[in-house]
Amino acid sequence: MAKTKTGHLHATRNDLGANVREISVGVLNATLADTMDLNHAVRMAHWTVRGPHFAALHTLFETFYNQLDEVTDDIAERVIQIGGTPDGTTQLVAAKSRLEAYPADLRDGIDHVKALTARYAALAKTVRAGIDTTDEAGDADTADLLTGLSRTLDKALWMLEAHLD
Ligand SMILES: [Fe+2]
Repeated sequence: MAKTKTGHLHATRNDLGANVREISVGVLNATLADTMDLNHAVRMAHWTVRGPHFAALHTLFETFYNQLDEVTDDIAERVIQIGGTPDGTTQLVAAKSRLEAYPADLRDGIDHVKALTARYAALAKTVRAGIDTTDEAGDADTADLLTGLSRTLDKALWMLEAHLD
């Protein structure tokens, strides 16, 4: 069989065209790496935060990484459903994440809030672009999945920024 640019997708009875699925797999895998990276940044904040707002931030960060856990699973499973392979190993996430590396030495609650604010805002921006890309390609389901993630990120960003006034 002739090798095509979509040759790395596995066979599926899903009726989306291979070119559409290839676009969505690209967007989803990029989002997966960023989301898994952010998940670990939030966990790091949950573990290391200190200061007078410890209890509230420790709990808030746990809520955030639980949200990211759930959506990460949905993203990776969508990749496999449409014929791709999730870029889900630690090594791939580290190589592919577009987020700035999270500092390991942060302790102060507001420093964590600022560092997470920057990363939530960055991811929210690329996810919003991914909604348009997958919608225009004709994959309404991936666009919908990303729209749900976008709402989650926007809400978390609000909660983080509310600490910074
Ligand atoms: Fe914990």
